[in-house]
Amino acid sequence: MPPSGVPTISPQSLERRIAAGEPLLLLDTRDPATHAGFPFDAPRPVEPLNLPYDRFLQDIDGGLAGLPAPGTAGPIVCFCYRGETAAPIVRALRAAGYEAENLEGGMLGWSELVVPTVVPGSDALGAEAALLQLRRLGKGCLGYALVAGDAALLVDVGRNVESALAAVAQRGAKIARVADTHLHADHISGGPEVARETGAPYALPPADATDVRHAFEPVGDGDVWRVGAVQVRALHTPGHTDGSTSYLVGDRFLLTGDTLFVAGVGRPDLSGQGERLARVLHRTLTATIPALGDRVEILPAHISSAAEVGAAGVASARLGDLKRTTLSGLSADADVFSRSLLAALPEQPPNSDRIRAANRGVPTADPSELEYGPNRCAVTGGMQ
Ligand SMILES: [Fe+2]
Repeated sequence: MPPSGVPTISPQSLERRIAAGEPLLLLDTRDPATHAGFPFDAPRPVEPLNLPYDRFLQDIDGGLAGLPAPGTAGPIVCFCYRGETAAPIVRALRAAGYEAENLEGGMLGWSELVVPTVVPGSDALGAEAALLQLRRLGKGCLGYALVAGDAALLVDVGRNVESALAAVAQRGAKIARVADTHLHADHISGGPEVARETGAPYALPPADATDVRHAFEPVGDGDVWRVGAVQVRALHTPGHTDGSTSYLVGDRFLLTGDTLFVAGVGRPDLSGQGERLARVLHRTLTATIPALGDRVEILPAHISSAAEVGAAGVASARLGDLKRTTLSGLSADADVFSRSLLAALPEQPPNSDRIRAANRGVPTADPSELEYGPNRCAVTGGMQ
């Protein structure tokens, strides 16, 4: 039994139970604003009930009255910010006859979990090739592992690289290169560390690499890498940042970073130069990316909501479909686009300046606290 005196469940076990469709009831004990603003992202759609900690402990009977009777909705898993305040609620639930557990580490622990899923259609890259989407559940961050023969390329991986490295090793491959599409502002990149540990080069667009302290390989527009038998071509797609570079895998999959999403476009303002970069983004979204074929599959670095994840557990969209939806709604006039985009920006993501500093190599004491919070790199509506 852990120090809190109540049974716990690890994030890995909870993920497996949700993925398997086992009945369970999730209970979010955070305050209502956090419940709504930083939702619980899971491998299948789930709707946690919100039972705020302080309200529940002030009126336990009232709180229990809002729950299904014990034994009718499967076991209850409670979660809070870091796994502490939910413990007394688990105790009260168990005293009332419920089978209840506390999620180890709360949302902080859940945010460390990364689940690899094979991208549908990536078998077209070759007999010994696979493209995996690495979904960080609590943050909505997406990274990628391209494995081809005995070589692998990692793109936009966060600092929790264990599951990516395990997936690569399981396929008998070694990391040949690790790359970021841009200098990230919402999560700490795992790229430099993987490069240090494996000796593989770490590729980063030079326009985003001012004051970066670790070694990197500058990647430029049109650069081509071979990963096994698969060709990967760099395509400069600036606007979210000056350096933002997408990677075209086998002419079939475009890893767009934070430039174009399944439901939205990248925000141009995080470096404080929104007006200039919005116009740059306009060219990327109305000329550079649409020049690619309709059947290219767009694979972004984030989702804003679990609704963007398809039945196969992967977030992706055909460029041809986005040309009929998100991209067709964009004005041909860069000024109109720029004004509407800047007016539709969501709130600034938490700690973006400090996260960018960490990605330049400035040491950070507590990376999981720094990264805590929802991802807000996309504009998902209101732009023209
Ligand atoms: Fe970003």
